[in-house]
Amino acid sequence: MSLAWRNLQKPFYLETSLRILQMRPSLSLGASRIAVPKLTLHTKHSMPPCDFSPEKYQSLAYSRVLAIHKQHLSPVDTAYFRKPLLLHQGHMEWLFDSEGNRYLDFFSGIVTVSVGHCHPKVSAVAKKQIDRLWHTSSVFFHSPMHEYAEKLSALLPEPLKVIFLVNSGSEANDLAMVMARAHSNHTDIISFRGAYHGCSPYTLGLTNVGIYKMEVPGGIGCQSVSSETLTFLQ
Ligand SMILES: Cc1ncc(COP(=O)(O)O)c(C=O)c1O
Repeated sequence: MSLAWRNLQKPFYLETSLRILQMRPSLSLGASRIAVPKLTLHTKHSMPPCDFSPEKYQSLAYSRVLAIHKQHLSPVDTAYFRKPLLLHQGHMEWLFDSEGNRYLDFFSGIVTVSVGHCHPKVSAVAKKQIDRLWHTSSVFFHSPMHEYAEKLSALLPEPLKVIFLVNSGSEANDLAMVMARAHSNHTDIISFRGAYHGCSPYTLGLTNVGIYKMEVPGGIGCQSVSSETLTFLQ
């Protein structure tokens, strides 16, 4: 299977460095208030100060991580970057790589709602839960799930006050596809070319990124369109 992935065409690359502002810790500003400079094309970027120091990275060297990745992991995981960051630690809105470089994280796990990295409040609750009960099954009750469902549904209007908890974006989209089909009694779903909607067998039909497309039957009823076609259809 992994060989099949490897032989598929690589998609376009995004340069990490263009996506995320980077600054070495040695350049960090000490002042807590900074005047906003006038920006021009030649203005060098800078970031707000941060008083958090990451732990020293003492794990695998980048070359070793790369070698393991090539040998044992699917290349789709890092297909968008020529040289993916080797991230080491996170603190609130900041990320630190294995060399101690600091990044302001505008990305946050790709379309995943996030509250930043290692927020002390969130970490404390997660640690408490980890020490109490890890996993059972949804066939049993465990009150935090019900508390969460009640709080979440309080934010939603009728008739959306029913919560179905899933583990991933792919699962959420699977569910959305089933619900849409069951409700409309139609099968066809259109999605944009170049769009990524997940890697489950169901969502692979909607995902239109070369590296994820296999020459096997799947995605029945899923049609890919360009944005121009969609405008035309509308
Ligand atoms: C737009 C979009 N949809 C779906 C997914 C799938 O989410 P997951 O990787 O949690 O299955 C992603 C993941 O990056 C995504 O960006």
